[in-house]
Amino acid sequence: MLFTREEVFKTPKLERLLHRIIHIATNPGDLVLDSFAGLGITGAVAHKMGRRWIMIELGEHCHTHIIPQLKKVIDGEDKGGITQTVNWKGGGGFRYYRLAPSSLEKDKWGNWILNKEYNSEILAEALCKIEGFTYAPSDTFYRQHSCYSK
Ligand SMILES: C[S@@+](CC[C@H](N)C(=O)[O-])C[C@H]1O[C@@H](n2cnc3c(N)ncnc32)[C@H](O)[C@@H]1O
Repeated sequence: MLFTREEVFKTPKLERLLHRIIHIATNPGDLVLDSFAGLGITGAVAHKMGRRWIMIELGEHCHTHIIPQLKKVIDGEDKGGITQTVNWKGGGGFRYYRLAPSSLEKDKWGNWILNKEYNSEILAEALCKIEGFTYAPSDTFYRQHSCYSK
């Protein structure tokens, strides 16, 4: 029988293999990193096994597959893969971030310069975030980019 690429990735066998690997290599509560998330199966299995996870994906399937699949896992609607093995009933959650373009780029001489897409407002907001402040520009005073600490 022939499978499409997607069906191959979704096969319960892959969830079982990942279950074995994560079981051997980690403990509940550990952090599992998948920096090439694909369809997000590693994260889904890690989630069902009570591990924390970070996934990184540059493709659109982040929206078309990973997020919908994780919502099903969290809502207890994913009945496939290792769900029965680990008695998964649902729970947990995740945060999703979209990375901004790099604030640095190279000029024609190969020197690092500030990305031309960035303006002073974006830089002020980025600096506040890095330093642990919340960006709170003034509505009243022009160019008063104030921040307050958490
Ligand atoms: C074969 S899939 C990985 C399968 C996945 N680990 C799983 O558990 O189902 C590889 C994925 O890596 C993504 N990718 C490739 N280069 C990347 C990069 N630099 N940053 C983030 N994702 C990347 C591709 O878009 C593709 O979806």
